[in-house]
Amino acid sequence: MERTLTVGLQERSYPIHIGSGLLPKLGEYLKAQLRSLRYAVVSDDNVAALYGQSVLDSLKSAGLSGELFTFPAGESSKRLATVEELARAMTLSGFDRGNVIIALGGGVSGDMAGFLAAIYMRGIPFVQVPTSLLAQVDSSVGGKTGVDLAEGKNLLGTFYQPKLVLIDTEVLRTLPTDQLLSGMGEVIKYGVSLDASLFHYLDQHREELLALDEACLNYVITRCCDLKARVVEEDEREGGLRRVLNFGHTIGHAVEAAANFSLLHGFAVSVGMVAIAAVSARCGYAPPDLEAEIARLLAAFGLPTSIPAGLSRERISAFMQADKKNMGRRLFFVLPTELGKVMVTDQVDRAALQQVLESA
Ligand SMILES: NC(=O)c1ccc[n+]([C@@H]2O[C@H](COP(=O)([O-])OP(=O)(O)OC[C@H]3O[C@@H](n4cnc5c(N)ncnc54)[C@H](O)[C@@H]3O)[C@@H](O)[C@H]2O)c1
Ligand SMILES: [Zn+2]
Repeated sequence: MERTLTVGLQERSYPIHIGSGLLPKLGEYLKAQLRSLRYAVVSDDNVAALYGQSVLDSLKSAGLSGELFTFPAGESSKRLATVEELARAMTLSGFDRGNVIIALGGGVSGDMAGFLAAIYMRGIPFVQVPTSLLAQVDSSVGGKTGVDLAEGKNLLGTFYQPKLVLIDTEVLRTLPTDQLLSGMGEVIKYGVSLDASLFHYLDQHREELLALDEACLNYVITRCCDLKARVVEEDEREGGLRRVLNFGHTIGHAVEAAANFSLLHGFAVSVGMVAIAAVSARCGYAPPDLEAEIARLLAAFGLPTSIPAGLSRERISAFMQADKKNMGRRLFFVLPTELGKVMVTDQVDRAALQQVLESA
């Protein structure tokens, strides 16, 4: 089965194709939609070893040519130096303004290849082929690209939309289990913050999802992309509504940083969602049982629901303050009010927040 969604952004609109076994069709999609005959495939070395050749084969059978440009897997590669190396390698291979970049991989590949595309010869088109669950439901849609600085994550970047997103759910079979669960954290985020029916679906189909049942995965990924696409259409550059997508992230980011990134992103977001539900209840915005309901589903998926015991609460608070500085001195909290609904505010009762951090 194959589904296509559209992210409607006037002249920057693009399709998201979702299905099992789509990778071999990439070349045909590109040929139908883009004029370039030459493609630079940017990927980390893990994903390149697994899927690089099938992407090149798919291009070739559509009469297109492709060349692979790889970098070492991992967040530590997501920096300007890697972008420069990739750009130099592309220049040496003669890639010009008429060519296109394909980002093949997880969020690191997508963010970095997208950023490279945004600045290579003042901007060339790019295509997202996300291969981690996190990238398939989150980072490949919406056009945020960028790299990290030593001072913080994603501090350099652009809004730059892809021309096409191709999601092959089949590739999730090789994704390590902890990465799959981390992506599930983001999936559950959509249910809790934007779609109660998705929350219930996840609850009822947990086993099938964890066993990578094709129909369930396709449904869930499509639903998440659709929810994200609708938010991005309303607020492409995060002036307001798009902040809802940060549900679980304000505390989650701080926990992730305080733990020196030893916790995978989706695990930190999981902890952050439960904590912010507790804050919301303390402030009187959420019913008292919402926190337990969210925690129950997260735990059923094997995700953590409380801040790791040894982690310094002062350090977490300090990282939240640092985020606040980076965000223009306003820290937004996305508070759940009921399943599938949230409110965004920069006015959260400090005492409630402090109590939750100390008791979580
Ligand atoms: N642009 C956005 O809107 C946005 C949103 C969320 C996160 N992000 C960014 O995304 C990044 C995290 O993304 P991620 O979790 O995908 O990390 P990642 O790209 O590092 O991928 C995680 C690991 O899984 C491996 N992998 C990916 N797909 C695989 C597959 N199919 N089979 C086997 N191994 C596979 C990768 O090689 C890597 O080792 C962060 O840098 C974060 O800032 C961006
Ligand atoms: Zn996230």
